[in-house]
Amino acid sequence: FTAEIDATDIEKGTYPHFMLKEIDEQPFVMRKIIQEYQDENDNIKLDSDIRQAMLDTDRVYIIAAGTSYHAGLVGKQFIEKIANVPVEVHIASEFSYNMPLLSEKPLFVFISQSGETADSRSVLVRIKELGHPALTITNVPGSTLSREANYTLHLHAGPEIAVASTKAYTAQIAVLAILAVDTAKAKGLDLDFDPLKELGIAASVMESLTDQKEVFEEIAKEYFTETRNAFYIGRGMDYFVVQEASLKLKEISYIQAEGFAGGELKHGTIALIESGTPVIALSTQESVNYSIRGNVQEVAARGAKTCIISIEGLEQESDTFVLPHVHELLTSLVSVVPMQLLAYYAALHRDCDVDKPRNLAKSVTVE
Ligand code: G6P
Repeated sequence: FTAEIDATDIEKGTYPHFMLKEIDEQPFVMRKIIQEYQDENDNIKLDSDIRQAMLDTDRVYIIAAGTSYHAGLVGKQFIEKIANVPVEVHIASEFSYNMPLLSEKPLFVFISQSGETADSRSVLVRIKELGHPALTITNVPGSTLSREANYTLHLHAGPEIAVASTKAYTAQIAVLAILAVDTAKAKGLDLDFDPLKELGIAASVMESLTDQKEVFEEIAKEYFTETRNAFYIGRGMDYFVVQEASLKLKEISYIQAEGFAGGELKHGTIALIESGTPVIALSTQESVNYSIRGNVQEVAARGAKTCIISIEGLEQESDTFVLPHVHELLTSLVSVVPMQLLAYYAALHRDCDVDKPRNLAKSVTVE
């Protein structure tokens, strides 16, 4: 295997940090994915063996770590809601020690930017011994997880150098959406969702967001300059994105951050809210727009410094930022961009080493 890496891909160019460069590359990565997964008739192009594996399984088990695990949480929604296949998402490091009861025809889907994460590999070894099929979704097709699985889907995100993963996360979500739609079509399900077209729209929205960096730099300065902790809240699809948002913030700015399901705060965590505690809320889903705003009021009443990021069609006047409209299934692709930029500027203004945060490695090859 020879990796095709363009030398310019692994240089920062005019960027101060790889992380900022990689955030900016996301619209291009979306377009590259559309190109790679589209045939000449504008239909989805996907390995027929993978399609068959998705048709044959009665339950998908997604195995991943860190940011890739968070992409898996979004992917579960796609595969269940679009393709009508049940999905479980597991943290790789827990799965080996606490293996769930498996269905009769499981398909294991490993999501890994590097394809080298040891925790995921140990699950792969184990399930191969049991004779179950595996699909790896990775940015590095020649990687261990890719070589050892039965099938591979490539993310086409280009080399990701910053320890904090950004473009791999959105690439994983895009590829999972394509996989879900391909399965739904193969099953003959009725769909009014064209993922390649909607991904193109999401790419343009991402671009409009990365063009407004100064807005997110100001929000980061206002909310994160002084604080030692921060909370992110969301419900439904937004809950998965706020988990990723809090991981981004804590890994590079060292602010203690947690992403919570809005309705769960009152069962304990709200005790931590003090005067001035930053609470960033995300609201991109119509079904939970009303309830998440209620959760914001609950924390504001206890002194929290609140910020709401919403989306066109659901916005209210007091919202801090309103995302342009994208298909409701793909909001995570665009709502994560402000979150990545908030984390980036928080780290920058706290003089942290953005690309190489303390104690962390890009690829964790020990269990
Ligand atoms: C490390 C990285 C994370 C990454 C995780 C999983 O902890 O610091 O950014 O999300 O590994 O990596 P993978 O390559 O399997 O996606």
